[in-house]
Amino acid sequence: MPHYECISVETEDRVTTVTLNRPHKRNAMSPQLNDEMLDALTRLSTDAGTDVLVLTGAGDSFSAGMDLKEYFRETDHDQVLADKARWTMREWAYNRLRFFPRVTIAAVNGWCFGGAFMPLVSCDLAIAADEAQFGLSEVNWGILPGGLVTKDIALSMGYRDALYYALTGETFGGQRAREIGLVNSSVPAEELGEAVRELTAKLRKLNPEVLRSTKETFRHAATMSYEQATDYMAAKSAQLLTRDGEDGRQKGLTQFLDTKEIKPGLAPYRRTDSGS
Ligand code: COA
Repeated sequence: MPHYECISVETEDRVTTVTLNRPHKRNAMSPQLNDEMLDALTRLSTDAGTDVLVLTGAGDSFSAGMDLKEYFRETDHDQVLADKARWTMREWAYNRLRFFPRVTIAAVNGWCFGGAFMPLVSCDLAIAADEAQFGLSEVNWGILPGGLVTKDIALSMGYRDALYYALTGETFGGQRAREIGLVNSSVPAEELGEAVRELTAKLRKLNPEVLRSTKETFRHAATMSYEQATDYMAAKSAQLLTRDGEDGRQKGLTQFLDTKEIKPGLAPYRRTDSGS
């Protein structure tokens, strides 16, 4: 990995943590940060050493959203710069992150405003600190939730909650984010690291190719007709059989039906290479 100035990337036990790292600006997303995120996610997309990706923020903030100075004001009078800034943001926070080939987890450690909902919702799973503060603050400075934020909240929050928070700009904490389904769970800030480790350990016991197919199918099938989804899911199932180097389906069937080592209703099959 190259040296980045606005983010950091660390891999341990096949879990790669990408940290938005501009704590003095509450990790607001500047064009440089967005360039670096696009570069890092592009490299990590084909990194054989990553089984799970965690996205978090340095200091007391996940991200204060788009950098109002560098992303908005400084590109206001240059259409080419503005277009490039928008394209890069959408490319990393939507295309690269949402369709990242491994499971992604947002660890929301603090402030999470506006544009930060894009990477938050693009992650497959999310754990918040109770103390985190979420807000659709766009209304507070005279814009609508742009980029893909409005679509993201329509997808990930209930109808009334999404409109309420978009129309009032009111902030809410981690527990409230869990109640409305924006995150999977919320824990006291000092337990966030451990909660993320527990979740990544659980995921590491599972076959990454199966997880990849599961999330890709979920993301695409949601917007298809039933006829298209039926055909697509059959094709994805066939693809998985040929892509899965560890032959998980066969192992699972054998360990349940023949050796009777597992009950798949209660636990995953034993993978030879994960220590499980
Ligand atoms: N864009 C650009 N700069 C930002 C920023 C953003 N979204 N969020 C914070 N900063 C900068 C501040 O301008 C300040 O810079 P300075 O030290 O050069 O003056 C620095 O980060 C620290 O911010 P500050 O407001 O002093 O921190 P705080 O801890 O008191 O408050 C927030 C934190 C997140 C509540 C507050 O910074 C804030 O409201 N930010 C904007 C959130 C927002 O609406 N984002 C846009 C969504 S579309």
